[in-house]
Amino acid sequence: MTTVRRAGILTGGGDCPGLNAVIRAVTKTLIFEQGLEVMGIADGFVGLIENRIRLLTPDAVSNILTRGGTVLGTSNKATPRHYPAGKDDAGNTIFQDVTDRVLQHIAEHRIEVLVIVGGDGTMSSAVHLIRHGVHLIGVPKTIDNDLMHTEITFGFQTAVETATEAIDRLHTTAASHHRVMLVETMGRNAGWLALNAGIAGGADVILIPEIPYRLDVIAAFCQQRVAQGKSSTIIVVSEGARPAGGSQTVDQIVSDSFEQIRLGGVSRMLARQIGHATGIEVRDTILGHVQRGGTPCAFDRVLATKLGHAATQLIAAARWDRMVAVQQGKITDVAIEDVADQERQVPLDCQEIQAARGVGTCFGDYPSAVV
Ligand code: F6P
Repeated sequence: MTTVRRAGILTGGGDCPGLNAVIRAVTKTLIFEQGLEVMGIADGFVGLIENRIRLLTPDAVSNILTRGGTVLGTSNKATPRHYPAGKDDAGNTIFQDVTDRVLQHIAEHRIEVLVIVGGDGTMSSAVHLIRHGVHLIGVPKTIDNDLMHTEITFGFQTAVETATEAIDRLHTTAASHHRVMLVETMGRNAGWLALNAGIAGGADVILIPEIPYRLDVIAAFCQQRVAQGKSSTIIVVSEGARPAGGSQTVDQIVSDSFEQIRLGGVSRMLARQIGHATGIEVRDTILGHVQRGGTPCAFDRVLATKLGHAATQLIAAARWDRMVAVQQGKITDVAIEDVADQERQVPLDCQEIQAARGVGTCFGDYPSAVV
């Protein structure tokens, strides 16, 4: 059993729906069931570096279950190993290792275990702190659903719902104008979000990073649909999708972020190419950060609460450096070290792809018949 008296909690990386549900579950359970004090760390690792740490009371985490974002704040720029510390004469960001500062703040606030809620980048910073003797518990979050060793992350289902609603809306305008409509989802190098929202929204074409596409296949499919009297074509494209033999579309490089590449814009490029190749009117919509915002759906509220609770049970059992995870529908835990810096992509033989192909969805890799 644990002898810990004080824990800390931070949310790192991009926000997602359900973070507040985890903060609430961890804080209330540790206070009510285990009699611990809980310190809230502001803005992810920035708070540990800049010493923005405060005591969380049960009141501070009341009425936040349904709220999107994170009441603690987050950052996908700061990590103790690589913290922006100003600019050089040429205007380039200078980075510094501020691990000592972080360790000093953890000791100063008497934090004996840190709950870190984040994605693969956050888990990689967590491994760095583990190697410096900090006791950590990880909770997986991301709308991308791309964390290794967990079959689902909270936030994903809400993002699927948001993207699906957008696709539903685009169906009606696409049909009215007899257009090809592209919808670009987030997801980085994994197609989970595009695949699931595409299936739920009845997309005619789904393009994901795991399956490089061919423009000639997509163009022929759109033309065939027109020839068969279909009113429109909906193409859901993941931001990480790329043509066979080509590369992903980079929107910007964020030089002071630990993951510098921001993908985006593949739908705009494809819209022009499909329009040019087919003569059909084409429009594109990039869903962007609306997929990350807003209130979590019921599924994510429950999952976040269960994962938060599971994190407290690891603390009770003094089982450090583990990340709670979902495997075969059950909550379990894995070593944080096994999750860091890895991506879980969509397996090509998964049921979702098979089911979508079964109803005639084209994945842009080889010609499919219009059904
Ligand atoms: O990892 C979550 C995510 O929303 C990705 O889907 C997307 O590529 C990225 O973060 C966007 O990051 P930012 O908020 O820095 O633009």
